[in-house]
Amino acid sequence: MKGRCAMDRPVQSIDNVRLTDAEDAVVILDQSLLPGRTEYRVLSDAESLREAIFSLRVRGAPAIGICAGYGMYLLARRIKTESVPEFLAKLRACKDYLDAARPTAVNLSWATARMVRRAGENAGRPVPEIVRLLGEECRRIQAEDAEMCRAISEHGLTLLRDGDGVLTHCNAGPLATSRYGTALGPLLLGTERGMRFRVFADETRPLLQGARLTTYELSRAGVDVTLICDNMASIVMKNGWVNACFVGCDRVAANGDTANKIGTSGVAILARHYGIPFYVLGPTSTIDRSCKTGAEIEIELRDPEEIRSKFYREPMAPEGVRCYNPAFDVTDHSLITGIVTERGVCRPPYTESLAALFSGGDDH
Ligand code: MRU
Repeated sequence: MKGRCAMDRPVQSIDNVRLTDAEDAVVILDQSLLPGRTEYRVLSDAESLREAIFSLRVRGAPAIGICAGYGMYLLARRIKTESVPEFLAKLRACKDYLDAARPTAVNLSWATARMVRRAGENAGRPVPEIVRLLGEECRRIQAEDAEMCRAISEHGLTLLRDGDGVLTHCNAGPLATSRYGTALGPLLLGTERGMRFRVFADETRPLLQGARLTTYELSRAGVDVTLICDNMASIVMKNGWVNACFVGCDRVAANGDTANKIGTSGVAILARHYGIPFYVLGPTSTIDRSCKTGAEIEIELRDPEEIRSKFYREPMAPEGVRCYNPAFDVTDHSLITGIVTERGVCRPPYTESLAALFSGGDDH
């Protein structure tokens, strides 16, 4: 499906993931084609949903969760049975199938688990009623994410001053979420309020989310953005151009260790060297309290072709050369100055400050 100039609208209002009016498919903006092509994809079965997540057509931890929530609803509508136990068993199978698409971003299994839990809590009702409630739940996941991004943006903005230089890695903007984004949220919100920032966007090899998506979002929003190769972060820091690093996250362990796009931990190490504060921004849905430390986080390994040839007209390396292609790395909590959630800025020791976020019993 070709886009109707979606990108003529402010980035904060792009429908990157939505349900069709007839509720028979999930429509996503295909992020793997940006910035060259604006095309939407209609996902109407389990296979296309899983493929879209696996192939990064929809990507960014919160957006993956939103897509999976809608996907679960779509698949629940297709389950043909009046037996609630059978319905629940089939719904769990859908969850397992979608969860297997990508292992690192916790928002995927978080959203599918939330849908299964909602169904289970209503097991005393007839199947059509449970399905209706699932429709409400997936919409709520997206609406809550929009609110969380707004709150993260407000909290993150308190860490910045007018004129600051900010370095970011990968893409944690509106395309990766539902509105504003996480790491880019404060920059977009501040810009709306007349503040000026100078942003350095790491290109983020191998799939170039920084070059393709972050610079695209920020320049459309009128933010001063400069694209750099990943190995240039040190020189811009040394030049004194960076006052803070803002990055997103895919899974935060209970001790604050943070998985994010491959290369993030290197940025954090450089920031420590140059005495620059390093902030992680993300919703509480990205905090995985069942993971004690980053050592327990599964790191996704992807196709070597992403390094050897994908995205380029000519091969970038000899055919068949051995590649190591981890999609994420873990930044040690000791390198993180603060973790910004919708509930405020957590400071070390994270074992305590992250646990305090859930002390009201509001867990997931
Ligand atoms: O492989 P991707 O593009 O899904 O990786 C995305 C990231 O690492 C983002 O920084 C993270 O998901 C946060 S998005 C708000």
